[in-house]
This record gives sequence, structure tokens and C-alpha cells, in this order.
Amino acid sequence: MTKRPVVIGIAGGSCSGKTSVTRAIYDVFRDHSVVVIEQDYYYKDQSHMTFDERLLTNYDHPLAFDTDLLIEHVHSLIDYKAVKKPVYDYVQHTRSEEVIDVEPKDVIIVEGILVLEDERLRDLMDIKLFVDTDSDLRIIRRIQRDIKERGRTADSVIDQYLSAVRPMHNMFIEPTKRYADVIIPEGGDNNVAIDLMVTKIKTILETGANL
Ligand code: ADP
Ligand code: C5P
Repeated sequence: MTKRPVVIGIAGGSCSGKTSVTRAIYDVFRDHSVVVIEQDYYYKDQSHMTFDERLLTNYDHPLAFDTDLLIEHVHSLIDYKAVKKPVYDYVQHTRSEEVIDVEPKDVIIVEGILVLEDERLRDLMDIKLFVDTDSDLRIIRRIQRDIKERGRTADSVIDQYLSAVRPMHNMFIEPTKRYADVIIPEGGDNNVAIDLMVTKIKTILETGANL
């Protein structure tokens, strides 16, 4: 039987807790080797555009991402080949010059708002999760995070939320919940759901049941 990594997709709205769930799973499997691929790092390169032009991009639409590259990288990691993961700069709204060398591992986590949107990407996943958190909590967390970590003002976060984040969430992200094997309410604080996921991943790793 050919060995194959376990691929886990973790989707959900902005600030739903995807990163927190990813970190909780990562921490358990640290020794077993986990690689995390963040969909955000695969936003299209916009270095040819001016900063003001980049502000007009709708970052919550599927077309904002270089999904072909993301799929190519997941395919390579499934074949146990290393990839050069792009790095994204949220302040400059484009890819940075550097890339990260990512070695293949037995567990691949693909995390991002729209990772369940593309059928080709979904078909590569053994386990699909959707982190489900109320929108009032998500906007509050987003205001705090984007001001602290992404160089934004409260007004810009609120304007972006109303013009793009909220409508795109309803149009593209929320409908992908139906593809999830498991819907996790309240993200990283949901220890029961995380324990269940960890047990399932261990079973797949031990028995090769995903093949
Ligand atoms: P996502 O990856 O879905 O955008 P994160 O896990 O990065 O979400 O969380 C977004 C922000 O919300 C972070 O600043 C994080 O510290 C905060 N956060 C996440 N989960 C909780 C929680 N259960 N309670 C309070 N704050 C949280
Ligand atoms: O970490 P999180 O899932 O919140 O990241 C996705 C969000 O990042 C999207 O909702 C998008 O609006 C935001 N984003 C942004 N500026 C960029 C790229 C993404 O505000 N340049």
C-alpha cells in the first residue's frame, strides 16, 4: 500500500477561529509532522499595481486567490515533494519577495476562508472542517486583529466588512459549509471537536484508511 499524507481542509469566515483550530491540531501532531498551508499566502501577486489600486481589490472573492498554484502545491506535498510557499504581506496587500521552503509531512492542513469553494481542492481533502462562529464575534475580533496586526484603522475595517467581507461571506463562504464533514462551533475553544479530529487523524495515519 502506497503511503499518502492526510489532507485536512479548515474553512470558515474571517476571524472564525481557523488559525486557532489549526494551531490546536498542529500542537498535538508536532512530532508526527504537520505542514500548514494558509490560503491567504496564495493571494495573487499585486506587485505590479500601485498601493491605491491594491486597496480596491476584493480580497474575499475566489478570484483574488491564485488557486491553481495552491492546488499545485498541495498535489506536490501529497507526492511528498517540497514546495516554495509564497509569503503574503497584509500591510502592502501583495506577496512579499521571500518564499518559505516547505518540506512534505504526513499531515497537511490547508486553511483559509475559501478552501472548500474549489471542487479540485476539496477532492484532495480527506477531512473537511468548517469553523462556524457568529458574525458579531467575528467582526469584533477582526477590528481588534486588523488594527493590531494588519496596519488598519477601525473605519477601514468596518467599511471593508460592509462592502466586501460580509456580502462575499454570504455568497461564497457560508454555502461551502455543506461540503464540510464536521462543523465546529466556536473554533479553537471547542476542545471536544478538536479531540475528535485528532483521534480521526491518528486512525487514518495508523491504518491508512484514507487510501
Ligand atoms: P481566523 O484564522 O479564522 O481568521 P483566528 O483563529 O486567527 O481566526 O482568530 C482571529 C482573531 O480572533 C485572533 O486575534 C484570535 O486571537 C481571536 N480569537 C480566536 N478565537 C477566539 C476566542 N475563542 N475568543 C476570543 N478571541 C478569539
Ligand atoms: O485570517 P482571515 O481568514 O481573516 O483572512 C482572510 C481575510 O483577510 C479576508 O476576509 C480578507 O478580507 C482579508 N484581507 C485583507 N487584506 C488583504 C488580504 C486579505 O483585509 N490584503
